[in-house]
Amino acid sequence: MIQKYSIKELLKKGIFFLNQKVLVEGWIRSMRYSIFLSLNDGSTINHLQIVLSKYFKKEFLKKITIGTSIRVIGIIKKSIGKKQCIELHSTDIKIYQSVPTQIMQKSILQPKKHSIEKIREQSHLRFQTNIFGCIMRIRNNMSFSIHKYFYEKNFFYINTPIITTSDCEGAGKMFQVTSMDLNQNDIDYTKDFFKCKTYLSVSGQLEAEVAALGLGKVYTFGPVFRAENSNTSRHLSEFWMVEPEMAFFHLEENIHLAEDLIKFTIQYILDHCMDDLSFLNENIKKWNMEGEISLLEKLKYILKYPFKKISYTEVINILNQEKEKKNITFTHTIFWGMDLQSEHEQYLVNIYFKKRPLIIYNYPFCIKSFYMRVNDDGKTVKSMDILLPGIGEIIGGSQREERYEVLLTNIKNKSLDKKLLWWYLDTRRFGSVPHSGFGLGFDRFVQFMTGMKNIRDVIPFPRTPKNASF
Ligand code: 4AD
Ligand code: MG
Repeated sequence: MIQKYSIKELLKKGIFFLNQKVLVEGWIRSMRYSIFLSLNDGSTINHLQIVLSKYFKKEFLKKITIGTSIRVIGIIKKSIGKKQCIELHSTDIKIYQSVPTQIMQKSILQPKKHSIEKIREQSHLRFQTNIFGCIMRIRNNMSFSIHKYFYEKNFFYINTPIITTSDCEGAGKMFQVTSMDLNQNDIDYTKDFFKCKTYLSVSGQLEAEVAALGLGKVYTFGPVFRAENSNTSRHLSEFWMVEPEMAFFHLEENIHLAEDLIKFTIQYILDHCMDDLSFLNENIKKWNMEGEISLLEKLKYILKYPFKKISYTEVINILNQEKEKKNITFTHTIFWGMDLQSEHEQYLVNIYFKKRPLIIYNYPFCIKSFYMRVNDDGKTVKSMDILLPGIGEIIGGSQREERYEVLLTNIKNKSLDKKLLWWYLDTRRFGSVPHSGFGLGFDRFVQFMTGMKNIRDVIPFPRTPKNASF
């Protein structure tokens, strides 16, 4: 049997394969002089040059059009072309499906410039495009590197429920899950599938905390759902979150871990995905991504310095000073206790801190969730957000309130139902310990790594307000 190889394997080992008979499969990406084909199988951004045998009949060659899926058997030869070191001299080609030119012309796969929005409209075909292939391979490697990071640090990967009764963030932006007939009046949810109202989870944190209080160090990596009507380039209604949770961890250790995880993943991608990164780097202007510094420069810059750490109170002072000194106008008024808006975050990271990642800690209790540990001042909590240039918030985390009575008061102060959270509260009675964790928005991280402007272009099938196509 003739050995089958991916194009990535063949190109990686190159001349090692010289004069060997091999089998490859893929889609034809381009043709030159009716002799040379560029074949791609998705394993790499690079194409394998196929040299057509002069013995193929004309009728057969007519069916070999761009987009056609084929199986090729041939001999690997040294290429005299400058672009590649090896090529495949075909002896046998099997066509899986030939794509007529008129069909190809209507699709984003036709080899010409398409806008990123147009490519998104044909999300079912975009896996075959160069740009989306790069993004998906980088996404895959990022996901692997995150698992690798935690595995090497002795964390346990746990799976938290997707269907839940509790609203972790308390923002009330949840999708309801029911098997009831919604056409009837006065729905009685005690007769629903789970005997109560249930929702799609906005975060696996509460369950991860419970696990950490027995296993020590755990993390989740799963989909979360938010029914917020935010139609921005950084919001999805269904997105993926990485949520580590550590017993015996204080806020400072939590912050350190978060910065380390981000840097580890960036370094991993620089080490393992240079072909894909280089393609994105070169095409940055074409795709209208980041402007001033290149993608590669940006990633290396992030690795170079420690992230800036600054308290929320200092942030408010800076914003007020900047407003007065430099006459900067913000749409939202600045006062202690306000939620930082995108315009403030952008100003701080992109301008004031010159594109250095920023860690803001000790936010006011009034704008944060019930589970965060209250500081001695009684007004602020041991929280932290990490902001990246161009993206804004990528991580939200905190040290958790481990004291039963204080947690109970927080639940009351936030008008939450303590009956629903009985199990969470109960963990604070059985050897409660200081513990911390955070949530990293995985899709936003992929956006940062690939330089894409819109989060819809880094996830295969984006779910956003008024859109659940595909
Ligand atoms: O700040 P958030 O809401 O934090 C939590 O959910 C905590 N329970 C996490 C924890 O401590 N375990 O969300 C965490 C991150 C944000 O920083 C952001 O990167 C991302 O999730 N995120 C979104 N990403 C895409 N689309 C959305 N609609 C997002 N909302 C939050
Ligand atoms: Mg947040």
